Amino acid sequence: MAAKEQSEHKEQQLTGIMQLLSEGGFYSGQAIADKLGVSRAYVWKLIQQLQDLGLGIESVTGKGYRLEHQVELLNKAQIEEALHGFSLDLRLITDSTNDKLKGDGFTHNKLVVAEYQSAGRGRRGRKWVSPLASNLYWSLGWKTQLPVQQLGGLSLIVGLAIVKALQQLGITGVELKWPNDIRYQGRKLGGILVELSGDMVGGLQVIIGVGLNVHMASNAAESIEQEWINLQELEPTISRQQLLITVIQCLQDYLERFSDGGFESFLSEWQRYDECLNKKVAILQGEDVINGIGAGVDANGAFLLQTGKGIKPVYAGEVSLRFREGT
Ligand code: ATP
Ligand code: BTN
Repeated sequence: MAAKEQSEHKEQQLTGIMQLLSEGGFYSGQAIADKLGVSRAYVWKLIQQLQDLGLGIESVTGKGYRLEHQVELLNKAQIEEALHGFSLDLRLITDSTNDKLKGDGFTHNKLVVAEYQSAGRGRRGRKWVSPLASNLYWSLGWKTQLPVQQLGGLSLIVGLAIVKALQQLGITGVELKWPNDIRYQGRKLGGILVELSGDMVGGLQVIIGVGLNVHMASNAAESIEQEWINLQELEPTISRQQLLITVIQCLQDYLERFSDGGFESFLSEWQRYDECLNKKVAILQGEDVINGIGAGVDANGAFLLQTGKGIKPVYAGEVSLRFREGT
C-alpha cells in the first residue's frame, strides 16, 4: 500500500474504534479486533495512539476499553446536509487545517475540519493546542474582490459571526479582543487566524481558520500560557456538531454582508462586544510599548488607541495587545 493510502487506512481504523467506543460501555480487545479484522496486539497499538492524541480511554482488566468521557464525533453526512454551498473535507488528523487547505490547492468555499491538529497554529507561528475530538478546528477558503486594505475587518466580523452563533445556542457574555481572540471573562475561548494569498488582479484568496474550545481536558492544555475556558462550562449540553453548523451558517451570512458593504456596517456591533473599549491597554510591537485606552476600531478594522497625543490607529500585522492594571 502507498504511504498515503496506508495512513488513510490507519485513520479509518482509528475512527472505527472511536465510533465503537462512543456508543458507550466497555469493549474487549478481542471484540474490537473482530470488528476491525485485525489482531488484538494491533488494537492495543491503535488504542495507545488514540490516547497519545489526547483521547481519554480507560482500560480495565477483564472488561476491556471504554471512554473516560462521552465523545460526540463529527458526522460528515449530517454536516453536509445542514450546510449548503460548501465542500467539506472532514479529517481525523491533520497538521493544521489552514495548511491542509493551502496544500491541497485553495478552493473557494471549501471547509476543512479536523478532529485533531498536530501543528495547529496561532498568530506568528504560536502553537494552537488541538487535542482529539475535544474542540473545533476548521478552515474556510474564501475568495474576495475586496481590496486588501479593507480586509483588516475580516477577522473582526468572523468573531462577530461566532458571537452571534453562540447566542443562537444560548451562550451570552462572550467578548472579542482585537484582532483575533474570542474570550469569556478574560479567558480565551477560541481564536481566529486569517491568512491571505493571491493577487489584486485575480482576487484575494483568504483562509479563515478558527479554533473553539468545547470540552478540552485540562491535562491536554497544560502548555497554554494564558487563562482559557471551554464552551461546555457555559453550556453543559453543547454539541460540537451543532456548534460547527451554526457558526458556519452565521459566517456565511456575515461574509456576504462584508463583501457587500465592508466592515463599516459592523462597527456598532463590534462596539457591543469589544473587550478593550475604554480599558487601559498596551500595544506591543517588538521592543516598543505604547500605552493608551481602547477607543474602538475604525471603518477598516484598525484598533484605535487613545494616547496623550490623540487617537492613533493600530494595524493588526505585527502587534500584540495587552491589558494594563487599573481602570
Ligand atoms: P496576540 O495578542 O499576540 O495575538 P495571543 O496570546 O492571543 O496574543 P495568539 O497567537 O493569538 O496569541 O494565540 C496563540 C496563543 O493562544 C498561544 O500562545 C497560547 O497561549 C494560547 N492557546 C493555544 N492553544 C489554545 C487553546 N486551545 N485555547 C486557548 N488558548 C490557546
Ligand atoms: C489565535 O488565537 O492566534 C488563532 C488560533 C487559530 C487556531 C485555528 S484552529 C484551526 C486553524 N488551523 C490552525 O492551524 N489554526 C487555526
